[in-house]
This record gives sequence, structure tokens and C-alpha cells, in this order.
Amino acid sequence: MQLERRQAIIVLDYGSQVSRLITRRIRECHVYSELVPASTTLAELQAKDHLDIKGFILSGGPSSVYDEGAPSCDPAILHSGLPVLGICYGMQLMAQQLGGHVEPKHGTREYGPATIEVMADAEQDYATYRIFEGLKPSPEQTTHLDRPTQHTPLRLPVWMSHGDSVDQLPEGFKILATTESNPVAVIAHPKGLIGFQFHPEVTHTPQGKELIKNFLFRICDCEASWTPEKVIDETVERIRQQVGKERVLCALSGGVDSAVAALLVHKAIGDQLTCMFVDTGCMREGEGEQVVETFRNHLHIPLVAIDAEDRFLGKLASVTDPERKRKIIGEEFIRVFEEEAVKLATEQGKIGFLAQGTLYPDVIESTSHDTANTAKRIKTHHNVGGLPEEMVFKLVEPLRMLFKDEVREIGLELGLPEEWVWRHPFPGPGLAIRVIGDITKEKLDILRKADKIVIDEIRRAGVYRELGQAFAVLTPIQSVGVMGDGRTYGNLVAVRAVTTGDFMTADWARLSPELLARISNRLVNEVHEINRVVYDITSKPPATIEWE
Ligand code: XMP
Repeated sequence: MQLERRQAIIVLDYGSQVSRLITRRIRECHVYSELVPASTTLAELQAKDHLDIKGFILSGGPSSVYDEGAPSCDPAILHSGLPVLGICYGMQLMAQQLGGHVEPKHGTREYGPATIEVMADAEQDYATYRIFEGLKPSPEQTTHLDRPTQHTPLRLPVWMSHGDSVDQLPEGFKILATTESNPVAVIAHPKGLIGFQFHPEVTHTPQGKELIKNFLFRICDCEASWTPEKVIDETVERIRQQVGKERVLCALSGGVDSAVAALLVHKAIGDQLTCMFVDTGCMREGEGEQVVETFRNHLHIPLVAIDAEDRFLGKLASVTDPERKRKIIGEEFIRVFEEEAVKLATEQGKIGFLAQGTLYPDVIESTSHDTANTAKRIKTHHNVGGLPEEMVFKLVEPLRMLFKDEVREIGLELGLPEEWVWRHPFPGPGLAIRVIGDITKEKLDILRKADKIVIDEIRRAGVYRELGQAFAVLTPIQSVGVMGDGRTYGNLVAVRAVTTGDFMTADWARLSPELLARISNRLVNEVHEINRVVYDITSKPPATIEWE
């Protein structure tokens, strides 16, 4: 099957913290978008012949157009005839490169909330006004623009963050909106070149998504065709073309990414896929059983489950240093995986590919947009234990261009149980880094019981989805308690629950006192070894989410 060219908006990344949000907002409107380095040329983009490029967005960034070595834009992009939206630095760059002028910053930067006011006569020229079409004055607007006017102007609250500003427009452009401190807040050219001095991609600009939609659908003529069904169809076809008749191995972790990667590969090539699940003995209660039940019995995907608990716990005996625990688990995992892969290949024939759940943010992070480079890095990692020459895998990464929320949507569409799709992330080393100090099977069993109680109660209270992560930590601290008529000397368990967007920063969750009380009562009553419970009220930074 010949794959259709996919409509796409290309976002050039000038280094703003929120560049990737632009790409996500576009995808949320069901239009495909890629984030590429600012230096990418039109010719390089046109070489991606699976893409039907409909427009460009130049992101914001920390530079001033006057900085030495400030990033620029391939002029061919600005003159391509395709629409371009410049945001903040992107707007200044576009204005400057097209012959306008940018005034360097003097005095204070405009940073934070502001209100833009659309010019009274802007509506008369549809070619430029299209970007505001259909927008209503926001109920959230601030009132500091209270000058007397004859009409009710369209005012929208926005989020500003800039120093320099455009003070002379390039030819053919007009000013569409101003703010109190900036006479040039929005500019537009009838051919679809637009500049926003504010950030439409952040939630602090409440109608930002409406503006992005206008750019996509009224200016770039995009269709909302990037839907989960379409993503699945395309991905499946690509996997078939890549893999052919070869066999694929996929390691399941119990998390959503590897599960969705496996489901896509299975949909594409059926039983040419074998999944592998390694039980390290450091998983949560029922986790291994659930992987087997869901994959083997519910989804009918060939699965090899390996009980490696003794091996892992043997290696971990008496180890207390968190980084050593991580290293031992990582290395042992690769060793088990390789041994089993060799066994499988001997029994059932050569395995050509390894499926991995790499996501788009990992691809963006690696700064290299070059598939070959990333593949090389991962392969080296997998060869640590000395994989035989003939077992060097090629990689199949079906989630490489997807964000986490897209992966979840696809998982649901492919029949992955909802509970699995929305599961909190779980670290590779598992409970080993939540038992503080040395690890024994007994301690892991205590923690498994405690963890289940915490999660059950959080689910029952209906707040699981609002949290980024929630879990129990078994500390080596013992304290005195009293139960019935006797004194106890038991373990201290800490409960940790955080809210977070990206796991780089996090805040401790304000769980209700009633919920905390239920968790604490159940932990002490149902797990004999525990006689004291504390709640962790540190944010990240300065603390990390995990305790080790
Ligand atoms: P921290 O504790 O650094 O955790 O705030 C941030 C996120 O990363 C997860 N995490 C890990 N994941 N292997 C993993 O696969 C690890 O060694 C590891 N350490 C932390 C943690 O659960 C949180 O989601």
C-alpha cells in the first residue's frame, strides 16, 4: 500500500521552553506537526516526501535578533508562499528578515499577563483578519485598557514574554492588535504571514488554541485528519514495510508505552511478534499476573514471562546504595533479556527486530532528529552484556513521533484496558528504590501490601488521574507504638503523592485529611509490620519524587 502524504505544520524551534507545546497544541487539533531545529532549511523539509507541508510556525526563544550568532530562518521558508506564524522571537525574526525593524530592549521586559486589543478597523480586511475570525471577547479579560472608545473592541488576555519589539513593519504587513505598552502586538500580511508578540500555546492565553485553530484551518487550509484511527493505520502500514517477514521481540515493562508499541506491532505483523516480560521480583502486587493475563489471555499476543526474582534478589542482597541498585538491576535485566532472546531465536528462528516504546519527547530531547544516530545509541546499550554478533537487533519504534497523550488515545482504541492506559509511571528498578536500604523479599512483600493500600484508597477517592505518581516508601526507621495493651516496635512507612506535568518539577499533592486518615488506618491495621505512617510534603525541587 502506498502511504498518503500527511498534512503537516512544521514548528521551527528557536529554543523557547514551550516550543514543544506548540506542536502538542497543533496535534490536539488533529493536525500533524513536527518540531525541528531552527537551522532546518526548506530543501531539507521538502525532502521529507511523506509530508504535505501546509505551513510553518517560528517559535519563541531566549535570543534577541541583535545577539551575535542569533538563530535565523532559511529565507526560502519565508518566501515559500506557505503561511508562516511567528511567535515572540519568531515574529521579530520574521519582521526583521522581511525588511522591517526591531527595536532593541530598553528598560523593562514585558513579562506576564497582558491584554491585546484588536484594531477597530481590522475586521474590514478579511485576508489579514482571518486569524481573529470567530473569537469572542474573553470573559477573563482584564480592564486596564479602559480608554474611551466608540465601539467595543475585541480584547483578549494573553501571555507575554519579550524584551525587543517590532517598531517598523515589513512591506505589506499591517498592525492588527496592540497592548497598553506595545503598539505592535499582532501583525499580519494578507498572504498568511502572521506575527504574535505573545504566546498562544500556553494555557495562560485562554483563547490561544482558538487562534492556533484559525491559523491551521482558516489560513493553512488544513484538514483535521490526524486522528487515532489514522495514526494506527499509518503506523501499522509503516511497521509492515519496515519489518517484512522478520520476527520482532518486544520487552514489556508493565507501563503504557511498551504495551502500546507491542499492540501496534502485533496489529501489523501478528504472531511474528513475541513479547517478553521479566519479573525482577521488584514489581507491584499482581503486576506480573496482569501482564500475562492481559497479553496472553485477553489480547492473544505471544508472551514469554520469565520469573527472575531469585536472580535479581540474589544480586541485590545487602546492597544499600541507590545508584548501585539501579546499575545492578539494569545490567541484570539486559543479561536475562539477552539469554532469553538467544533461547527464543534458537528454538523459533532468528529475531531481526527489537520493538521499543520511544516517545517523541525523547526524540526531541536527544536533540538529534536523526533516526540513525539514536538507533546506534540504543543498540550499544543493548549490547552491554555481549550479545552475539548475529543477534544485533534493528529497531522498530512505532511511537517515535507521538506524545504521551496520543499514545494513551491509541492504547484505548486498540483495546488496552483503561486502568493500564492511565497507570502512573513506574521506575525501571521498581520497588527496589522504594525500600530504603538493603532489600529482602520480606521487605518487598511489606511494601507491596502497603503500596496496594495507598493506590486502592487513592482510586476509591477518585483522585488517581489527578496525580502524577503516588506510592509508599518503606524506611529502615523503626519506632515505638502502642496497639491494644502492648507496645510495638515497627516500621515507618512514608506515603508520597505528587502532582506534576513533566516529572522534572512536582508539588506534593494536597490529599484530603480524610483520605490520608483512611490510608494511615489501613496501613497500620492491615500490615502488621507497620506502626507509623508519615506523609511527604516536599516538592521537587528540592526533593526528588522517588526517595532513592
Ligand atoms: P525523580 O525521583 O528523579 O523521578 O524525581 C522522576 C521520574 O523518574 C522516575 N525514575 C526512574 N525511572 N529508572 C526509571 O525508569 C530509574 O532509575 C528512575 N528513577 C526515577 C520516577 O519514578 C519519576 O517518574
